[in-house]
Amino acid sequence: MSDSRIADFYRLSHADRVKALADRGIISPADVDALLSDQGLLSVDAADKMIENVIGVFGLPLAIAPNFLVNKKDYVVPMVVEEPSIVAGLSSAAKLIRASGGFYVRSTDPVMIGQIQIVDVVEPDAAIRALNESEEELLRLANELQPKLQARGGGAKDIEYFKYQLPDGRWTVVLHVLVDTGDAMGANAVNTICEGLAPHLEGICGGTVCLKIVSNLADRSIVSAHVKLSPAVLGRGDFSGEQVRDNIVLANDFANTDPYRAATHNKGIMNGIDAVALATGNDWRSIEAGAHAYAVRDGAYRALTSWTTDGNGDLLGKLTMPLKVGVVGGSQTANPGAATGLRITGAKSAQELAEVMGAVGLAQNFAALRALVTDGIQKGHMSLHARSVAASAGAPAEIFDQVVAGMVSSGDVKPWKAEELINSLQISDDDTTKIPVLKMSESLPLGTLVPPVTSAAEKVPTLQMPDGVAAGKVILLGEHAAVYDRNVLALPLESAVTVRIAETDSGLRLLIPDWNIEQELDPDAPVRGGPAAVLALIRRYFGVTERRFDIHVQSRIPLAAGLGFSAALAVATIRAFDKIAGKGMSNVEVEKLAYQCEKISHGTPSGIDNNIATYAQPVLFSKGTSSRTKPITLAEVTPLVIASSGIKASTIEQVAGVRARYDKNRAMYTTIFDEINEISIAGSVALRNCDYEQLGSMMNVCHGFLNAIEVSTPELEKMIAIARESGAIGAKLTGSGGGGSIVALCPDKVSDVTQALKAAGYQVIRMESD
Ligand code: MEV
Repeated sequence: MSDSRIADFYRLSHADRVKALADRGIISPADVDALLSDQGLLSVDAADKMIENVIGVFGLPLAIAPNFLVNKKDYVVPMVVEEPSIVAGLSSAAKLIRASGGFYVRSTDPVMIGQIQIVDVVEPDAAIRALNESEEELLRLANELQPKLQARGGGAKDIEYFKYQLPDGRWTVVLHVLVDTGDAMGANAVNTICEGLAPHLEGICGGTVCLKIVSNLADRSIVSAHVKLSPAVLGRGDFSGEQVRDNIVLANDFANTDPYRAATHNKGIMNGIDAVALATGNDWRSIEAGAHAYAVRDGAYRALTSWTTDGNGDLLGKLTMPLKVGVVGGSQTANPGAATGLRITGAKSAQELAEVMGAVGLAQNFAALRALVTDGIQKGHMSLHARSVAASAGAPAEIFDQVVAGMVSSGDVKPWKAEELINSLQISDDDTTKIPVLKMSESLPLGTLVPPVTSAAEKVPTLQMPDGVAAGKVILLGEHAAVYDRNVLALPLESAVTVRIAETDSGLRLLIPDWNIEQELDPDAPVRGGPAAVLALIRRYFGVTERRFDIHVQSRIPLAAGLGFSAALAVATIRAFDKIAGKGMSNVEVEKLAYQCEKISHGTPSGIDNNIATYAQPVLFSKGTSSRTKPITLAEVTPLVIASSGIKASTIEQVAGVRARYDKNRAMYTTIFDEINEISIAGSVALRNCDYEQLGSMMNVCHGFLNAIEVSTPELEKMIAIARESGAIGAKLTGSGGGGSIVALCPDKVSDVTQALKAAGYQVIRMESD
């Protein structure tokens, strides 16, 4: 491989990552097919031949860490691991280390130890002498058992002898047969040799042969990886390079004195090594066992690394550990995934692979220590997780980092948040090229459709003007919890807002005669903030920013009453412009554009309002799941009464207040949101079945929760009491609370409840339009 650097690999889509590897010849066309197929690399058939009682194939992520420069050669490292941050930490450590010359790694011959235990030996020294005298013969026998291994230059090379006194006083003699297993892991070859030699031993030295098995303390296959890093490259955040260097040395000293820390320190090293072992079909359990046994070789469990400073002030890192791996053998042949992994490494021999894995272990330890001695690992975890969420949400390169930062700072590292940020960032500046622009024909005689209307008080000549209509919404169950990805159940308030547009010679006006509003809007308003900004966005979409209009609005729902006025206004306006433009926008397009308008009005809307405004259909909605909307068909009009308190509610403020309380009491609020979620889901079933007893009691319980999270007000409580006293079987606040409206379920009592609320001075809003 000429260069293992792949720029911005983490930002690519899955398919593009696979393509990037294929383009560089790192993987084969068959690998590409398998990696893109989504079937996994190992079939059930193949798995069935590997072990017993197979019932399926269990998946784990396969990733790569680019940037490795080991002994002046480039490597891309395959990794199979489930823990976030490991791959990213490793890749960036490798990048930093390559800029300082890369890794220098050495390894011993790939020798495994086979143990043969002889028990009941009366004279251990005599037994060892006798065995020693027969050593040549024993090695010859051993190699006859594995002729192919010997033909490839490997095979049994030496035998060592040990004696131990067991707790009951008996002596046991142990032979270590040292076998060069070449490019295979070699456990099978070693076990064959040990079992084959066993029958010859008792005749030589007396006693009885007991165990004959490979040792996983593979300390004849030692890898030693080194790096040298100048403090100039080590600084991070507020920490200088010298501080990072010195703290890494201290962290290593800590692990060398305290086994509790050493265990975690070494676990971090094995994060990388095990991941490569898995990806290349190697026995990670044997590597683990060997590593930890080696770490405690002098009686105290210590770090496998050493980090020191040299005379020039550079940081020197070294990892020394047993690493006996294979690039040929049963597991690599049986598992096509392992073959892919090996191809990715490009390693031609087991020793070469072991050396790469040594570099991986050292880099992984460096990544962990550098994070631990500076910011800690949680921050990195979150932003790395945010990166992958941003990538899978399709965040474009130019706003990628902003999407990541937005998710991290909001605490919502979630696909819906990424989508929301992508949408808002794409429209958040004045670069009109970032939003899709529909060109309205300049010759279209907009102004000729109606005579310009000059006064808000004047009745709008409805027949001549194209109009757009949209629904409002009433939330039955689930407000606020919806902001935290839980389900919300809502119904449309049909034809709540109607917009008619007339082109004028000058000015841009919002005219709502019923509310005596005749507002001159700034046509050049920045995209963020208020109706002018919403209109600016819509005008940009239709490519009519230079032209001027009167926007006539009729609404049967109040403003800021929690009934979805702003979304309905957006949808109705879009539809009115669309009629003039003759584009014939689909509902999907309308809803999408309205969502962008909603973000201007509300910051972080859940999306329920623009959905209902567009589709005018009852819905169980969740912004956090992939199937966001479950439309509900109703057999009859639900007997609801909606009443506005007349007190304006600020959704942004209410949502922010809940967020602050949630941050202080996450566990408690999470439980409440979960409960509300359950109620919303069950409530959707009750609604569909017209089971009003059930639905009513759910509304009452839901209101209890809304009260608990402090969004109700004395006024709303008063209205709810009136509704219940006059016959409602369920009543609750609806929308964001803090003012706004209530909704009451009143089978057979709609008119009683309506009268009672009206009598108390509240405005009642009908579900259906005239
Ligand atoms: C987490 O998987 C690994 C670390 O705990 C390693 C370490 O503490 O050195 C970060």
